[in-house]
Amino acid sequence: MEGKTNLWYELKISVENAVRSDFDTDNFLEKTKFSDKPAGIWKFQDEEMYSILNQEWIYYLKQCNIPVTSFMMFYRQPNYQHPEAHIDVHRPAKPTDVPLLSVFGLNLVISKNDDSYMSWYDVSDFEKSKEMSKTLADTPYLSWPMSEVQNKEIDRVIIGNRIVLVNVGVPHNVIMNNNERWLISLRCRNSAGLKNWDEAINYFSKYIK
Ligand SMILES: [Fe+2]
Repeated sequence: MEGKTNLWYELKISVENAVRSDFDTDNFLEKTKFSDKPAGIWKFQDEEMYSILNQEWIYYLKQCNIPVTSFMMFYRQPNYQHPEAHIDVHRPAKPTDVPLLSVFGLNLVISKNDDSYMSWYDVSDFEKSKEMSKTLADTPYLSWPMSEVQNKEIDRVIIGNRIVLVNVGVPHNVIMNNNERWLISLRCRNSAGLKNWDEAINYFSKYIK
């Protein structure tokens, strides 16, 4: 792909019937350790996925060459502001392995009336510093305080009830608004095979709107 690429692309993938009709976010939250917290995070793998997403929909994604094997679910309460922007990093199999930066996410908000923004920040000034590469080696997590990056916002998007291919290799955060946010980030079996953002765009190009 030539020219400058965007940080997100809506995909022409139906999300109708994605979520089970009997799944209720309030009931779910109440039973978890995050019930009195402003944010929550959960991972669902293999069969566990079907407690929230319809099996037929996962099958439909497979037919679209999107073999989902797990997903993360993120909850944020209205107006909760996380103090850091971050880059997604895969936890290495062995502690001695170098952590791998993630490339993309397939994100979908399942709550109604999403009014939050996923926002991206340009940290090229910081990336040149030695300190940052040291942080990468020491911990599988790269983050920047919002106070340092909030003037360097380069893009933002309301994800809403659709699938958006998002670049998670560029520092990002969520700007919450008046509504709560329940986001599902799908993980595919072949994620590791897509080595950079251009490869991810190319892989999903057939479905990019
Ligand atoms: Fe992220």
